[in-house]
Amino acid sequence: MLWLSKDGLLSAAALGVTFTAGLWLGTKLVSRRYSILHTFKSHCDTKGDPLMEYVLQNSLREHPILKKLSKRTLEDRRNMMMVAREQAQLMANLAKLINAKKVIEIGVYTGYNALNMALAVPDDGKVVACDINLEFANLGKPFWKEARVEHKIDLRIKPASETLDELLRAGEAESFDFAFIDADKVNYNIYYEKCLQLIRKGGIIAIDNVLWGGKVLKPRNDPDTLSIAKLNEKIYRDSRVNISMLTIGDGVTLAFKL
Ligand SMILES: C[S@@+](CC[C@H](N)C(=O)[O-])C[C@H]1O[C@@H](n2cnc3c(N)ncnc32)[C@H](O)[C@@H]1O
Repeated sequence: MLWLSKDGLLSAAALGVTFTAGLWLGTKLVSRRYSILHTFKSHCDTKGDPLMEYVLQNSLREHPILKKLSKRTLEDRRNMMMVAREQAQLMANLAKLINAKKVIEIGVYTGYNALNMALAVPDDGKVVACDINLEFANLGKPFWKEARVEHKIDLRIKPASETLDELLRAGEAESFDFAFIDADKVNYNIYYEKCLQLIRKGGIIAIDNVLWGGKVLKPRNDPDTLSIAKLNEKIYRDSRVNISMLTIGDGVTLAFKL
């Protein structure tokens, strides 16, 4: 049996308090770091985040032209809009897994993911790329051409909901394999509903920014946050799809149409 003097007991108690406090602080720091990681975009400065650097160094297999496009996009002051590259890679892998041929991209910007998807679908596949800003897409076009997949990218410059309606009117319901929703947040529910009509059974809808930098925890009155939070709740209960909400990038929900 261990015997301790009064001084020994006091030291042991002090050690215990220090240990518990250390444990509490450690947990706090880890959970804070974890929440930062949750909304970390891979093209942002990874220097302060060795774990993120590790993830990219050990998993990102970026096509050389995608790499060039991401470098060019980083020179643009709005580069925060670009999709997280490891997330784009996951979406390309999913598209290949389901033999996707027809893809919808809602929100193109410089077209990193449009190019990524065009590289993933076969030569007779297509990516309907929706944006309202031609200037952004023009930054990416030379790279689509250099990768020899520009013929697969059908760029439509007008509000995305109009393009989706056009596709529905053209009889393309249930004919798409994959959709990526990544444009104006207030219209997310409209995009989700129209994509559900356009996607075939077994197809996938990926919804970006579902964590919105953590703001979904306290939506307040900001219309973008409210719209995302409302759609998150709706999709959680939506029996038309199976779902996974992933903490990659700024959060992405994968909805698998039943
Ligand atoms: C986050 S960026 C898209 C990033 C892109 N998916 C990528 O691979 O990097 C959002 C884009 O949505 C576009 N956008 C905003 N409102 C839109 C609308 N009503 N219809 C179509 N595109 C819209 C913006 O012009 C912008 O280029």
